[in-house]
Amino acid sequence: MSLLETRDLTIRFGGHVAVNAVSCAFAPGTLTAIVGPNGAGKTTYFNLISGQLRASDGQVLLGGQDLSRLPASARTRAGLGRAFQLTNLFPHLSVRENVRLAVQATRAGAHRRGLNLWSIWSDHRAVTERADQILADVAMLPRAEAAVAGLPHGDQRKLEVALLMALEPQVFMFDEPTAGMNAAEAPVILDLIRRLKQDRTKTILLVEHKMDVVRELADRIIVLHNGTLVADGLPAEVIASPIVQEAYLGVAREAA
Ligand SMILES: Nc1ncnc2c1ncn2[C@@H]1O[C@H](COP(=O)(O)OP(=O)(O)OP(=O)(O)O)[C@@H](O)[C@H]1O
Ligand SMILES: [Mg+2]
Repeated sequence: MSLLETRDLTIRFGGHVAVNAVSCAFAPGTLTAIVGPNGAGKTTYFNLISGQLRASDGQVLLGGQDLSRLPASARTRAGLGRAFQLTNLFPHLSVRENVRLAVQATRAGAHRRGLNLWSIWSDHRAVTERADQILADVAMLPRAEAAVAGLPHGDQRKLEVALLMALEPQVFMFDEPTAGMNAAEAPVILDLIRRLKQDRTKTILLVEHKMDVVRELADRIIVLHNGTLVADGLPAEVIASPIVQEAYLGVAREAA
């Protein structure tokens, strides 16, 4: 069964076709790496799936349901998880408070409680425990009390991933999750993605330029080039294919 599917997904910016009729299905329990040169359309493809951009043509389906006309917030509720933009956060609240709010937002849909003080207290405690567990997973617990405004770049990126975890989506979309991170920070995030993968129920999409990361984590690679899907297969096959060697690897080596 494929959980997430795009059919002929297309967006034009004026005369420029940034994503061109991309049809692809992504199964639960798999991690698909999306690679391609700068400007190939990878981030735009993510934006079309998550609803940050509306497609000119084509569809996005999740579990057979057409989400193409829904706004981003409804797609998030349906199970599509895209890293938060930090502009959605409360910059003057602490890291922990922001994660607590995301956990609470996720749980509010799951169950509503009456005005029972004991259950409100135990909910409060459970939300804090879950938030702290997520912060520990991204090695941010020591920064839990820090205000979000003024966090260094690496911590901001880790917080984006923490908020994505708090949403408990079915589909995880990571767009260069370790970009700009230092040598201590990147392994924390890669380890988290590795553990998500071991869960074997999540659908994971990873845009990544670093080919060693792709080689290790991907079950499958798709290649975008000028907005078009030009290769799709097992990592070893795709990496060895002439189109990738020519269209991508030269660029990747320069970028690495
Ligand atoms: N909102 C927009 N308006 C106009 N053009 C856009 C817009 N968003 C993206 N583009 C164009 O679409 C193309 C694809 O861009 P995109 O950011 O998706 O590439 P990418 O594969 O993510 O590249 P990178 O590896 O550098 O992140 C580029 O030519 C870009 O300039
Ligand atoms: Mg991009």
